[in-house]
Amino acid sequence: MMKRFPEDLIKSLRNAKRVAVLTGAGASAESGVPTFREAQTGLWAEYRPEDLAAPYAFEKNPWRVWEWYEWRRGLIENVMPNKGHYALVEMEKLLKAQSVEFTLITQNVDGLHQKAGNQNVIELHGNIERTKCAKCGKVAVRWQTTETHPPHCLQDNCGGLLRPDVVWFGESLPLEALHKAMAAAQRCNIFLSIGTSTLVQPAASLPTMALDAKAVVVEINPNPTPITGRVTYALEGLSGYILPRLVAATWG
Ligand code: OAD
Repeated sequence: MMKRFPEDLIKSLRNAKRVAVLTGAGASAESGVPTFREAQTGLWAEYRPEDLAAPYAFEKNPWRVWEWYEWRRGLIENVMPNKGHYALVEMEKLLKAQSVEFTLITQNVDGLHQKAGNQNVIELHGNIERTKCAKCGKVAVRWQTTETHPPHCLQDNCGGLLRPDVVWFGESLPLEALHKAMAAAQRCNIFLSIGTSTLVQPAASLPTMALDAKAVVVEINPNPTPITGRVTYALEGLSGYILPRLVAATWG
């Protein structure tokens, strides 16, 4: 059984004029999407991240990278949002009805927040459903598959290889998304960091930015992270368990 939420946390949520939320792989874990770097079950269990999600990995072995993403896309296509996702939809609706600003920033590329029904979602690491050309950068909507290499870009005789439109290690984040996320972190009254190890920059610095701007920062995670000791409230547990209860305790 979970203990009651601290009164002050509930008050902060009820009184907030601007709420920002950051999610990581843990928010999708209860939907059956593996996290990235949890021992054994993590997505990187067999490979090092740099061997699959990096530009040089794609240059060296484009087919392996393409196939790994195909496998992940298949995995994601068949999963449904979980109770944590739906609680965030409820939170957005309740807050918007009170003209409170709500920004959901995600590092996840699975699109599950949108599938659940959240409106204001900032995707920091792209979306695995989208495909773009590694050479000209244009988003591709059709291609011819082969069994030896990723499809070629069909735009204007470009011929480059197609790749997922996600951010790889060593690549910059989409600038507009990053700026919006930073602005939301710096001006919110309350910031929720949910299911992220806060190890990958620059997303990992968003909770710290919120703390520096004097926001109340809440972490929801079954395991400690580098920010656990610094946040205002560390709620230890699964997002699918804690979030619906937090929404009910605040607005129920
Ligand atoms: P990680 O795999 O690094 O961390 C997942 C976090 O979720 C861990 O801290 C877990 O304790 C926590 N967790 C697991 N199950 C949970 C649950 N049910 N509820 C709440 N928390 C849970 O994933 P991220 O922090 O998202 O980047 O990783 C950040 C980025 O690193 C990813 O976006 C990806 C990866 O490399 C790229 O692909 C560019």
